[in-house]
Amino acid sequence: MDELLAWRKEFPILGHTTYMISHSLGAMPARTRQRMAEYTDMWASRGIRAWEEGWWEMPVTVGNLVGRIIGAGEGEVILQQNVSICQWVVCSCFDWQARRNKLVTDGLNFPSNNYIHHGLERNGARVVTVPSEDGFTLPVERILETIDEETALVSVSHVAFRSSYVQDVGRIAQRAREVGAMVCADLYQSAGTLPVDVRALGVEFATGGSVKWLCGGPGAGYLYVRRDLWDKVTPSATGWMAHESPFGFEGGPIRYTSDMFRFLNGTPNIPAMYAARSGYEIVGEIGVSAIREKSVRQTQRLIELALEAGFRVNSCRNPAQRGGTVVIDVPDGRAVTQELARREILVDYRPQAGIRVAPHFYTTDDEIEHTVREIRSIAK
Ligand SMILES: Cc1ncc(COP(=O)(O)O)c(C=O)c1O
Repeated sequence: MDELLAWRKEFPILGHTTYMISHSLGAMPARTRQRMAEYTDMWASRGIRAWEEGWWEMPVTVGNLVGRIIGAGEGEVILQQNVSICQWVVCSCFDWQARRNKLVTDGLNFPSNNYIHHGLERNGARVVTVPSEDGFTLPVERILETIDEETALVSVSHVAFRSSYVQDVGRIAQRAREVGAMVCADLYQSAGTLPVDVRALGVEFATGGSVKWLCGGPGAGYLYVRRDLWDKVTPSATGWMAHESPFGFEGGPIRYTSDMFRFLNGTPNIPAMYAARSGYEIVGEIGVSAIREKSVRQTQRLIELALEAGFRVNSCRNPAQRGGTVVIDVPDGRAVTQELARREILVDYRPQAGIRVAPHFYTTDDEIEHTVREIRSIAK
């Protein structure tokens, strides 16, 4: 008996679609519609007073819901618009002209993060990317040997978007600490499907978003900054919400506030935070360890079925090294993905990887079998 299936009725799309794409866009909870109505009602009835009646604080109050999922303390997570902005805020905390100017990153990191890292080169940063030899995995030792006394920041993906490879972020953070460097982990593909504890990992910063496993929809990315760093790091990517006295409207250089608001910038995306809340609440209520237990079982089954069908699998067989997605390399993967969509089975395709298939807590075992059966029939 799979108790998590009781949640299916909360997700309207599951009534007519085999939804295997939660690594890309998690299914919308039915209660999100009501949350959006709360937003419009608030705006319509309270007008400008909405700011002081909750909106202003939302980046932190809604951030707390994410914080509970990733092991952060109260007030240590704020919501921004997306991961790219969060990464940019983190990178702007460092002086890339200083002698310690090396930024170490992994060859499996998300391209948007790469673009931001390389953009820092004009300010003096030396970006060192540790390549993945096979394009899917990256032994942690390769990263550890690149971190040295000249490293300011190590920015890595916890779970790789292309292959779902799980990186040993804890060991990276330990090595970084030994040499006085800081670590930013991108949790986008882990939080919500893999238990994450930012304290236990020992990272200084973490970023992620709501679109995927957290079922929160677009427009809400989150940033964690460890509390003891708030008075030590100063983002140059900033805005008036980070000011100590924002309603003083002082010009000139900013005087930063001392709390997590110092990592905010301009007006936050209020409707996206209303939308995102229901997904966070549901994932928080279920608990990620129950989600993970089911995910390991179902991804294992997917791998078995794909191998039986004669396909190559580009995700690790060892569950400890695998996130919530299984990447199945099928000839003409893009076309197969399109035909699957026509048959009401949603997955996606990534070049040099294959078809990404992701069960989530609401997936039935029958849907797993059905997906591989259809891939098989189309490929044939
Ligand atoms: C691991 C990872 N990081 C970052 C991103 C991009 O995030 P955003 O669009 O919020 O900047 C993605 C999106 O697919 C991702 O998978």
